Parts: sequence; structure tokens; C-alpha cells
Amino acid sequence: MSIQFPSYIEQLKPYIAGKPIEETQREYGVKRVIKLASNENPLGPSPKAVAAIKKSMKDLQLYPDASGYRLRHALSKLEKVSFDEIVLGNGSNEVIELLIRSFCVPGDFMVASDGVFAAYPISARIQGVDTLFSRMTQDFRFDLPAMLELIRSNPRVKLVAIPNPNNPTGTYVTERELTVFLSEVEKVRDGSVHVILDYAYWEYVNAKDLPDPVALYRRFSNVSVLKTFSKIYGLGGLRVGYGIMRPDLAKYVQKVRMPFNVSGPGLVGAEAALGDKEFIKKSIRINREGLKTMKKFFTDLEIPFLPSQGNFLLINTRQGFGMSGPEVFEACLRLGVIFRPVANYGLPDWLRVTVGTSSQNRVAQKAFLSLKKHKNR
Ligand SMILES: Cc1ncc(COP(=O)(O)O)c(C=O)c1O
Repeated sequence: MSIQFPSYIEQLKPYIAGKPIEETQREYGVKRVIKLASNENPLGPSPKAVAAIKKSMKDLQLYPDASGYRLRHALSKLEKVSFDEIVLGNGSNEVIELLIRSFCVPGDFMVASDGVFAAYPISARIQGVDTLFSRMTQDFRFDLPAMLELIRSNPRVKLVAIPNPNNPTGTYVTERELTVFLSEVEKVRDGSVHVILDYAYWEYVNAKDLPDPVALYRRFSNVSVLKTFSKIYGLGGLRVGYGIMRPDLAKYVQKVRMPFNVSGPGLVGAEAALGDKEFIKKSIRINREGLKTMKKFFTDLEIPFLPSQGNFLLINTRQGFGMSGPEVFEACLRLGVIFRPVANYGLPDWLRVTVGTSSQNRVAQKAFLSLKKHKNR
């Protein structure tokens, strides 16, 4: 082809999504397949969301409310911020893209840690923005002082990505660490470096020292918060997320989004899900129980894993099975279980395991047990 694409597009490595169930059934000839690969809610979608979406189907001929009035209003009540501080996105992924588009021109930089959720460097690259990575600490956590150094020493750094907890590691930065970091970043280049606190897994968090992002948002002038309906609310397929940001920034971000970026069913379903307190409570409980069961299982089998504040665990397959992450992934596909290899994160000896329902967790355990037996033979 004689067309010249920008080099940052030519060299782009696209996001690798979790393998779909149907594709696995087709390729491996297995009938019963469970997916524990995309940190989805194993209980399915919020029933209140489903009911509201069904009711709204008769209006599908209409374009959605471009201002997202009702959902933004409900979110502003929930988060105790003003209506103008809420920006809706087609998943929180889109809000990441919108923030990069608002802050950066090609040639600018974002700062993140190795192991950061892959959508960050990809969304940046698509827009000609490279990511400067700091190394993770030995215990697979973000090294905030190293990130601060990168921010200070590169004048074209405009954005910093902090998913807390991070995916796929599940590790987090503490209130103390983050507060010191944010106070320092605020002093750099007149507060012009912006920090994205991504709390996609906030509702699952158990650790007392993992800070409330909205409190930090109130305290520091250069912080935005991201949250999503894709995890605890069970609405990954609906694609709705949101950002909380200062109105003077939100004004710009609203300008660079497409007018109907969230669908009609998305707006209606997300609003209804917010009121589904029973479902949220049950989802938290199932995850806590599942995490506990899976941690005990991996401990008993001497398969190392990282401590996680999300709805997933990152296990070390090299030490656990003498195999790479992709090898264990492949072997488990044949047994009808889809996990997530993370070699693309520079973690070839690890596998991410989403916590399922108790019956799904039993199937996952069976697959791991059979691999372990095979290894010991
Ligand atoms: C840390 C983190 N942020 C954001 C997202 C994006 O979620 P969504 O675009 O579905 O809201 C994910 C999804 O896996 C995630 O793990």
C-alpha cells in the first residue's frame, strides 16, 4: 500500500481483549466454557438495569439525550459533586481518550508505571502521545517517587495515569503515598500536570488505606477521577463510564466528545443500576467470598499470587506450574476456562484470574488441579 500512515499508528500494538466464549467453543470444540478473563461481574447485569433497558426499547428510534441529563444528575447526587463536574463516556475508556485529547498534542507525554492498565499507553499512542514508564517496585506496586522524577524532568509531560487498584496487578497506592505524590505534582510547572485517578474497582476495595478518590479530587486542583458501570454493576457490554473533573476542564472535555457517545439504553440502564443497592451488596459479598476461596486454593497449591483489591488475582504460573502464563492460558482453554494472559504487560510468567461465582471458581480450581497433576506426573 502506498498510503503513509503516521508512524505512531504504524507502530501501534492494539489492545488485546479477553477471548470470547463462542470463539473458544468454536476453536477448541468444548461445549461448556466459562470466562474469567475480563473482570466482568459473574452475577450478570444489574436486574434493575435490565428491566429499565427493556422498558426503554420502544424509544430506540430516538437519539439519546446528548447531555445525559438524568444520569449525570443521579451521579452528581451520588458523588456529591455538581452536575457540571460529571462527564459521561462510552465506558471509562473513552473518558481516558477524551482527557488525552483535551490535554495533549502529538509529541507530549503521559507518565505511568510499568504494568499499568493497557488502555492508557494505547489511547495515548493513538493520539501521538508516548508514555514514559517508571519501573514497578519489587512487590509490583507503583513507584510514585520514580514517577514524580519522570514528571519533573520532562517538560512535555501533561498527564499521569494512576489506576488504583491497578489492573492487572491488583496492587494499590496508599493514602499516604498518594497524598505526598499529589502535593508534589501540584507544584510542578504551575499545577499544569494533570493526574487521572482511575477507580474502576473502587466498590470492591477492602483496604482501609486505599484513599477515597473524590476526597483527593476536592483537595488537589489537578486531579480527575474515573469510574465505570462495567465492573460492580455488571454492565461491561453497555459501555458506560464517567469522569469527575473541575467544570472549567469538563467544559473542554465535553467539547471534544461526540454528542451521542453514550447510547439511550446505556443512559437508562446505568441510572437504574445506581439504585440497585441489593445487587451491589450481593456483588461485593460474592467477590469477597470468591477472593478468599481462591486465595486459599492458590496458597494450598503453592501457586504465588499478588494481593488484590479488585475482583481478580494475578498468579505466578512459572512458580506454580513451571509454565508461562500463555501456556497455562492455552491449556485451560482446552479445559473450557478462559483466563487472561498478561505477557503484553511484560509479565510473561503470570496469568490473571477473575473471581467468579462459587460454581465458576470450582471449575477454575478443577482446571488448575488437573494442570498441577499433569506437571507432577
Ligand atoms: C483500571 C481500569 N480502568 C478502566 C477500565 C475500562 O473500563 P470501561 O471502559 O469498561 O469503563 C478497566 C477495564 O478493564 C480497568 O481495568
